[in-house]
Amino acid sequence: MHRSILLLSAITLFAAAPLIAGAQPAKPALYTADQATAGAAAYAQSCAACHGAQMEGVAAPALKGSAFGEMATAQGLTASALLDVVTNTMPQSDPGSLKPEEYNAVTAYILQQNGYPAGTAALAPGAAGIKDAKITP
Ligand code: HEC
Repeated sequence: MHRSILLLSAITLFAAAPLIAGAQPAKPALYTADQATAGAAAYAQSCAACHGAQMEGVAAPALKGSAFGEMATAQGLTASALLDVVTNTMPQSDPGSLKPEEYNAVTAYILQQNGYPAGTAALAPGAAGIKDAKITP
């Protein structure tokens, strides 16, 4: 149900784009490649102990793959909300301990690991498009 509503609005918004052929709209570019690279290092240092080196989930939930995708879909999670959760509540052992640009970067890395492409605009709070970008599996 949700998917067909989403698809309908995607078709309405981007009628000229070649989306109709695919089952789902293409994932938008929401971060730069440099951010994802920096984010991978920050992730290894500050997140991997609980979420797993491959985001597979250890003491804490997986941050990619089908379980994460289902959670994101159930919550209607957007890129903006993901950035907020990471920035305000993680690492759970020491929230707020990273620099703002490290939170942006680590969130960029999560997006990359979930199949979102890099682009020219950096991910940051309030960046264009991130409130509308639903996280999908
Ligand atoms: C000390 C362990 C620990 C560390 C370190 C940690 N997390 Fe978490 N994280 C958790 C736990 C536990 C949860 C689940 C919390 C809940 O469900 O209320 C969680 C939840 C999350 C969620 C929401 C996932 C979901 O399925 O709801 C995200 C996103 C996240 N963490 C990202 C990060 C990032 C990015 C870092 C590094 C900056 C990080 N975490 C570091 C323990 C940790």
